[in-house]
Amino acid sequence: MAVLKVLTYPDPRLKTISVPVEAFDEKLRAFVRDLEETMRAGPGGVGIAAPQVGEFTRVVIVDVSIKKNVAHHGRMLLVNPEIVLWEDMAVGREGCMSVPDYTGNVIRAQRIQVAARNEHGDAVHYECTGYEARAVQHELDHLDGMLFLDRLVSRRHDLFARIKK
Ligand code: NI
Repeated sequence: MAVLKVLTYPDPRLKTISVPVEAFDEKLRAFVRDLEETMRAGPGGVGIAAPQVGEFTRVVIVDVSIKKNVAHHGRMLLVNPEIVLWEDMAVGREGCMSVPDYTGNVIRAQRIQVAARNEHGDAVHYECTGYEARAVQHELDHLDGMLFLDRLVSRRHDLFARIKK
């Protein structure tokens, strides 16, 4: 396994639209293991998308279980994901491993349903709420070349520098 290098803003490759996975093979599963290790190595890593490590395929991992008091499904691997239902929009704060110096306020659905495949090609379906729903929407945006920066209503009012430690 390996921790992969994470592309950071303003790397133009982060704007790439990723392509669907077609082969659910050992190569995919090895990549998923590396992607997960990379997510867990990052500070506060609750999600990661393949294009963040320069692999432009539609693969994301979300695991918000390290957050206190949030509903979650543990580790979710979503290959070729599609959100099939959105409800209840709300503003919330987001960060991103590809935007290490800032957080931002973004409007997202508080309740979603997402359909995807797992690493073996089996269909999976999740209903997510709250913080987990937000994380899924954030990661899926990466597959379409979108960062939370692209969804700020106002850079002046909704973008916040992280305190350097
Ligand atoms: Ni991100």
